[in-house]
Amino acid sequence: MFLKTLALASCSISVLPLSAFADVTIEEKAGIEYVKEWENVSDSEVSAISGMTKDLVGKIDADAAKGSKRVLRDAHPKAHGCVVAKFTVDAALAANYQTSVLQPGKSYDAIIRFSSAAATPQSDAVGDARGMAVKLLGVPGKKLLEGQESELTQDFVMINFPIFVGHDAADFSQLVSSLIHDGAPIKYFFPSLNPMTWRVKQALNLLDFNGKKDASLLQQRFFSLVPYLLNDQPTKFGAEPCSNNTALRPDKPDENFLRKELAGFLQSKSGCFNFVVQDYKPGFEIEDGMGWWPAGLDAAVEPPSLRIVSPGNKPVSKFNRVAQITIPPQSFDTDAKNIYCDNLSFQPWHAVPEHRPLGSINRARRSIYLAISKHRHSVNGADAVEPTSLREFQELK
Ligand code: HEM
Repeated sequence: MFLKTLALASCSISVLPLSAFADVTIEEKAGIEYVKEWENVSDSEVSAISGMTKDLVGKIDADAAKGSKRVLRDAHPKAHGCVVAKFTVDAALAANYQTSVLQPGKSYDAIIRFSSAAATPQSDAVGDARGMAVKLLGVPGKKLLEGQESELTQDFVMINFPIFVGHDAADFSQLVSSLIHDGAPIKYFFPSLNPMTWRVKQALNLLDFNGKKDASLLQQRFFSLVPYLLNDQPTKFGAEPCSNNTALRPDKPDENFLRKELAGFLQSKSGCFNFVVQDYKPGFEIEDGMGWWPAGLDAAVEPPSLRIVSPGNKPVSKFNRVAQITIPPQSFDTDAKNIYCDNLSFQPWHAVPEHRPLGSINRARRSIYLAISKHRHSVNGADAVEPTSLREFQELK
């Protein structure tokens, strides 16, 4: 690929033509690539990223030292299961949403991993953010992640809440440090007796984030939380439930009731999500991971506290459907399939340039997810492999 480097006073700028779809300029500051038209890299980003990487690698080593047979992911360690799916782009997709991946009528095999966010696996009865990580297979084109440019996967990583729990890499690195070194984020929320230093918005946000009482993963609405390019424009994406799932939350939820409910439903029925995209409008944040882009959804999914956490006179931008995800009836809950699922790596930078992740939180995820995935695979003596088809997973008993 053509690479032109211009030397500037304080940083070097690389201009990389991406593709016919993504007409943006990629520059570099202190080794971190960013999109000139939309992003800004703060001076503290590099040290925040290296601090988080060290803390998260350290947590895996500490877990291994405790004698864990297999170490799990630092974040979202508890899987509710991996399922196979079909991702079918709408046949009448509007031209402005078309990318090399989103081609009208195109269909991909996919693997979805459902998870819970808590750093230590806990009972499903406890409120927690749930994750939905979608991996499309057989996606051609050069990918963004270093060393994995020729892989054939495109990932969409989501959580069932609209905004993240930290503003940017520097802010979130302090939460990670507080969780890992102090065991609880008290120091992060209240670093001193001076109320001016208290992180009240983050505390309020985390309460909402963990406060949901869910009945089924198939009833959740999932969000990308942070923005991504769609060609040359910022967007957020999400998945809205369309399964015929009317499960009620059990009175006494079992510790793995979400996995059991999913497995029971998929014995005979199909799961369904609409894959949706939200357009950027002036006033929406790119760099702030706690920046809320109002979508006009009901208060259960866009709680009123979002206005306090991310204030401003912002327009509403509704989500538009671009594809449908179908999860056919299947049996996924076996030891062999669960280990395969654990050994997968989902990450936002498994992406073609037209779906490039944006903003400080996403830039941090680029090297951190890669380092953590490599480290946990090496501690577990497992290979980190991007799947090329569903066959291997489906053949497991
Ligand atoms: C700087 C901010 C973040 C850091 C440091 C971080 C860190 C991590 C790490 C280390 C993993 C495990 C990766 C692996 O071992 O393969 C992970 C997984 C995950 N993260 Fe994040 N994360 C961040 C932001 C986010 C955001 C904004 C989302 C919103 C969608 C998110 C959703 C997830 C999900 C759903 C998983 C599980 C993916 C799977 O099923 O494998 N994370 N994160």
